[in-house]
Amino acid sequence: MHTRNRITVIGTGYLGITHAACMAEVGHEVLGLDIDADKIRQLNHGELPIHENGLDELLRRGVVSGRLRFTTSFQEAAEFGDVHFLCLGTPQRTDSSAADTSQLDAAIDALAPHLTRACLVVGKSTVPVGTAERLNRRLIERAPAGDAINLAWNPEFLREGFAVKDTLSPDRIVLGVRTESAERTLRAIYAPLGDIPTVVTDFATAELVKAAANSFLATKISYINAMAEVCEAAQGDVVALAEALSYDGRIGGRFLNAGIGFGGGCLPKDIRAFTARAEELGAGRALSFLREVDEINIRRRSRAVELARELVGGSLAGRAVAVLGAAFKPDSDDIRDSPALAIANAIQEEGGLVSVYDPVALDNARKAYPTLGYAGSPTEAAQEAHVTLLLTEWSDFVELDPEEFGSVVADRNVVDGRNALSPIAWRAAGWNYRALGRP
Ligand code: UDX
Repeated sequence: MHTRNRITVIGTGYLGITHAACMAEVGHEVLGLDIDADKIRQLNHGELPIHENGLDELLRRGVVSGRLRFTTSFQEAAEFGDVHFLCLGTPQRTDSSAADTSQLDAAIDALAPHLTRACLVVGKSTVPVGTAERLNRRLIERAPAGDAINLAWNPEFLREGFAVKDTLSPDRIVLGVRTESAERTLRAIYAPLGDIPTVVTDFATAELVKAAANSFLATKISYINAMAEVCEAAQGDVVALAEALSYDGRIGGRFLNAGIGFGGGCLPKDIRAFTARAEELGAGRALSFLREVDEINIRRRSRAVELARELVGGSLAGRAVAVLGAAFKPDSDDIRDSPALAIANAIQEEGGLVSVYDPVALDNARKAYPTLGYAGSPTEAAQEAHVTLLLTEWSDFVELDPEEFGSVVADRNVVDGRNALSPIAWRAAGWNYRALGRP
């Protein structure tokens, strides 16, 4: 029998809702907190404000069982919880490429005055190295219980679309701790997950693991996209190249899909914030390659626009353009830094008449890019289109029948931005098929 803990989860974004619902699922008593009262009302009714596989069911189950509740009150959270998880966002600052940690500071400032007994505060957000140390001082200064309060850093590695799976069966658990009791408490909280490899370390290393992991993943994607650029120049095929690389166990095949590159709320901002922090620490040289990683990534978007332009004979002005996909990746409604929407927008700026379709991200896309055209299905988007771009590899798009789909367009021109379609099948159906990194 595992011990039940009373935990709070402060911040109910992607990470916070997932963590709260998963902790309730494994038996803990959980109180989620957010300053957004509308969201809290919704969550208390078991309604999920985001799209994430399997999470709606977990949320409902937690709320119905009574083990999962939500509040806007820091006082209630402080009275309830023995462990407080910080799951606040750390977006890119508007005035630089560094991370904005002000939501974490604000949460500490709101929580600390109510902390009158010993407890553990655990940071999960992705932060610049040194933040845990700083927040620890801030917490002890402001909490009536002073140094009876412990801090720990426990980064989260979940992927959107797999958030529940990644939280309930993580590859590893990283604990940045200063005391044995903090380690014991966190091990007990995660004990119901089973035997997960656990690395116990200091604050700085725990913070760095997350930045290092995301930088590695971004570098791997930009590496294969750099190979795609070379393939384009040399008439090679990056898909075959990646397959050949993938059989080398030291390289591995995951995160080796060439295309329009990475987006989302994590990788782009994390590599920039990591570079900015390394520069502050006098270690800027060590990460200067991440600027190249970022530039290669952005260049791929321009290349997709260029391929579309070539297919319609040199100018996109006045041409009908179907864009399949708005989310930054499939199985997500997240459009933050979405390469698909950046490309759709660039085409519109060149005078293209863009019509975007996505199975779940349309509402979010409309809010962020209100001037783009939108459609209710792939065929509606492609009605009389001169060129079609596949920019998010939803299975609905990958499974399109090129013959049937071809009957609605004006011209059978397609740019496969994710190397997800079969060039043989599409060419056999009379399409001019172009992809990134392929002849
Ligand atoms: C990422 C990390 O994977 C996760 O561990 C971390 O906690 C948060 O950031 P996420 O942003 O959900 O997760 O998406 P991920 O699956 O990593 O994809 C990121 C982007 O890279 C997407 O835009 C995706 O389309 C792109 N990508 C991924 C490629 O272009 N090629 C690939 O081979 C893999």
